[in-house]
Amino acid sequence: MNTDLLIVGGDGDLALRKLFPSLYYLELNDSMPENTRIFGMARTAQTQQEYLQKIQSWLKATVKEELYSEEKWQCFADKIRFVQGDATDSAALCSVKEVYFGRDDHLVVYLAIPPMIFGKVCGAIDDCGLNRPTTRLVVEKPLGDSRESFKAINSELARTFSEEQIFRIDHYLGKESVQNLLALRFANDMFEPLWNSKYIDHIQITVTESVGVGNRWAFYNQTGATRDMVQNHLLQVLCLVAMEPPTWLNAESVRSEKLKVLNALRLIPAEEVQELTVRGQYASGYVGGEEVPGYREEKSEKYEIDPNSQTETYVAIKAEIENWRWTGVPFYLRTGKRLNKRHSEIVIEFKQNQHQIFKDKHSEHPANQLIIQLQPDAGIALRMMHKVPGLDAGVPVKDGVLNFTFDKSDEKVTHDAYSRLLFDVLRNDPTLFVSAAEVEAAWRWVDQIFAGWKETDMPAQEYQSGCLGPDKADELIERGGRKWLNEGFELWCALD
Ligand code: BG6
Repeated sequence: MNTDLLIVGGDGDLALRKLFPSLYYLELNDSMPENTRIFGMARTAQTQQEYLQKIQSWLKATVKEELYSEEKWQCFADKIRFVQGDATDSAALCSVKEVYFGRDDHLVVYLAIPPMIFGKVCGAIDDCGLNRPTTRLVVEKPLGDSRESFKAINSELARTFSEEQIFRIDHYLGKESVQNLLALRFANDMFEPLWNSKYIDHIQITVTESVGVGNRWAFYNQTGATRDMVQNHLLQVLCLVAMEPPTWLNAESVRSEKLKVLNALRLIPAEEVQELTVRGQYASGYVGGEEVPGYREEKSEKYEIDPNSQTETYVAIKAEIENWRWTGVPFYLRTGKRLNKRHSEIVIEFKQNQHQIFKDKHSEHPANQLIIQLQPDAGIALRMMHKVPGLDAGVPVKDGVLNFTFDKSDEKVTHDAYSRLLFDVLRNDPTLFVSAAEVEAAWRWVDQIFAGWKETDMPAQEYQSGCLGPDKADELIERGGRKWLNEGFELWCALD
């Protein structure tokens, strides 16, 4: 019995840049199921040799140098076959089936193609008899740009595939650091009693990027930061932080807990969008010492740039979860492009006791913060107070940190987020994939924000490239008497 991965769109950007390098990592770790074969299907004619050369040159450009070996490449290349054909045409798929796929083989089809042809490809797979009970289908964003359009795309898939067969990728769930949220919360029992509105003041989730939109201008201009990052990645992270303990670590339990969180997000009414959200767009500036153009001055050979675009490249939102555990605890979300650096972090700020015994003789002490850095390196820091050593009168206290960096020192990490997800789909484990109901619930919340922006004609605030985002984002959090913690993990670890 073989496990066959058929990549439709096999010589497209996603396949070459992301999927093959991640599959190579599986080869490197000997993590592919026995007898795995990888079929890259594309319409453009090319020989097997040409196809392999293309994949190899992308690999060499993408995979860490120390992890590339000719020997592993050979083993990997032996698993890959190029098949020419149009996957919307069932006759083309039938001939691939005749040549390669046996009755008992397990087939995983990865749709690395635009959603508008998902339906046709699924229909062709079904027509030629490749949609067997064990067949799995992998798709990823953009899955629509609203709840309605997601439902339309999903119904195209659902016409031929059941929900159990569909694996929706959110690559953030494939990140070690994001999975570590599960370990942190549910393998360390000390946190659970504190993880609620009684002890937590607020939570910040920040994902900043230093890159601009570059060649993706046309796509991005229709999308913006909210659809590109919040609807999926930030909300998935929020779910893992906020969800109830799942009964089991399986897809059914984890997804149903995440869904409850998404359904409990308070919809932001139009009259509150100005107060609870900020839209920003990058202007020119300097990132890492290099001068960069503003969003509306980007150059692209492929697309015409709209000089009046109001698309947001930054967004900050004060989100609220209306349930027993979280009512009264704001979740501040922010993400943007062309900010000072690539960095993601979650800050859990605990409440302070009203009665401060150090206040009279010394200064007021700040709140404890648990900082979970997601990238570039994964780590956890607990900001705590301790006594200043010495013979000073009283008990003067100051900031300190307990920290723990877990992937920098671990040389064993030889995979990326996609390889983890491909590993799971090949083994048929859907736990780290997103259900249709989750995607729909996330769109419902995001749609409401867009409706509010439209109704109030809310403009995007310019921010200089290389800074921390628009000033209005500071005002948003300061209205609640709080402050963003910027790069808190590094900040507190440097104090140590
Ligand atoms: C993608 C977005 O989903 O995530 C990109 O479309 C963004 O715009 C990327 O750059 C960020 O992913 P990561 O893993 O680099 O944080």
